[in-house]
Amino acid sequence: MAKKLRVGVIFGGRSGEHEVSVLSAASVIESIDRKKYDVLPIAISREGKWLSPTEARNLLPPNAQLLLPPSVANVANQAQSAVAILGDPSHSGLLSFDQDGGALTSERLDVVFPVLHGPFGEDGTIQGLLEMADIPYVGCGVLASACGMDKVAMKLLFLQAGLPLCKYLWFLRAHWQENRAKVIKSVIRDLGFPCFVKPANLGSSVGVSRADDKASLEQAIELAAQYDRKIVVEEAVDAREIECAVIGNNEPRASLPGEYVIHDEAARFLDYEEKYTKTGHVEFVVPAPVSNALATKIQRLAIRAFQSVDGAGLARVDFFFRRDTKELLVNELNTMPGLTEVSGYPKMWAASGLSYTKMLNVLVELALERHREKSVNKTTRD
Ligand SMILES: Nc1ncnc2c1ncn2[C@@H]1O[C@H](COP(=O)(O)OP(=O)(O)O)[C@@H](O)[C@H]1O
Ligand SMILES: [Mg+2]
Repeated sequence: MAKKLRVGVIFGGRSGEHEVSVLSAASVIESIDRKKYDVLPIAISREGKWLSPTEARNLLPPNAQLLLPPSVANVANQAQSAVAILGDPSHSGLLSFDQDGGALTSERLDVVFPVLHGPFGEDGTIQGLLEMADIPYVGCGVLASACGMDKVAMKLLFLQAGLPLCKYLWFLRAHWQENRAKVIKSVIRDLGFPCFVKPANLGSSVGVSRADDKASLEQAIELAAQYDRKIVVEEAVDAREIECAVIGNNEPRASLPGEYVIHDEAARFLDYEEKYTKTGHVEFVVPAPVSNALATKIQRLAIRAFQSVDGAGLARVDFFFRRDTKELLVNELNTMPGLTEVSGYPKMWAASGLSYTKMLNVLVELALERHREKSVNKTTRD
């Protein structure tokens, strides 16, 4: 029998999407093919502390429980052992240290699945650590992760690739604090009301709000400014929200599109509440009820968006389909989309004939493929 691969699932993290990440990881751990993979759960606390597999396992809901290798279980019983992945390939794997900093064990990691959403996870930071450590990992590399996280950089790459976007502008928090009147004036002049205000680097609608007049615009900017030093403002579009899942490395494939159908005006937009609690106001429908021609266009633009940031592994591309002009606009690309049971990404693949478990197999294979592809690069001049 082939050797089982050891997959380190890293979750939690120092972002506003910590809880979502725990749910995503629980679904991954529950659905991953245990005949093929052993799972080593690794959690990062809100403060950024790395937690041992035993501590990490305690954070998971009962459906995602798993047996740990005996060596791991023994180490983790020692009080307050610290764990780390070092950016040094000669000390590879997950290292455990005792209270005095002495290394106790090194657990092999064949591939890492960073199921982290938002800053310090989806933004290239952990991807950089894994590159340094020379461990294959699921999903986008440093560049695509960073560009997918920063809505300003992402928009520039999208524009460069000829993708249609809504009108927007951006500014630094520092400039807002220096001259609020100037910022307000340019928003009113270039975009008008209603508009949407967002921190450049976040997700799950955290810090995102709609402004309908000058007073609510100021409030919205103040809110976004709590989360980031860069702020984006967009014209509010009256649009259907359609998404498409992309999987692959050099030959990415797009799923059938799905749509967030809003049943109740009470849901003003897809805020955190609507995304993650069963409010009953919105429903994710796959396939999206669109013409074949529109579905094909969505898939084509999703792949182009993925390639424009040099994506790898997976990404979910979100669109606005304007009700007035019938224009299709790209809203954003998420390099580590939600992977909970109710999340769009796995649902779109399931509807396209790729079950959650098979999808995870493909993602691990893609991680290994990308690592192999990189390892043939020459690193010397001769
Ligand atoms: N320009 C816009 N016009 C209309 N609704 C918007 C606009 N931008 C964002 N929204 C609403 O806010 C939600 C979150 O915004 P989004 O840019 O997707 O941020 P996040 O990265 O947090 O998901 C969207 O799903 C949509 O419901
Ligand atoms: Mg979004």
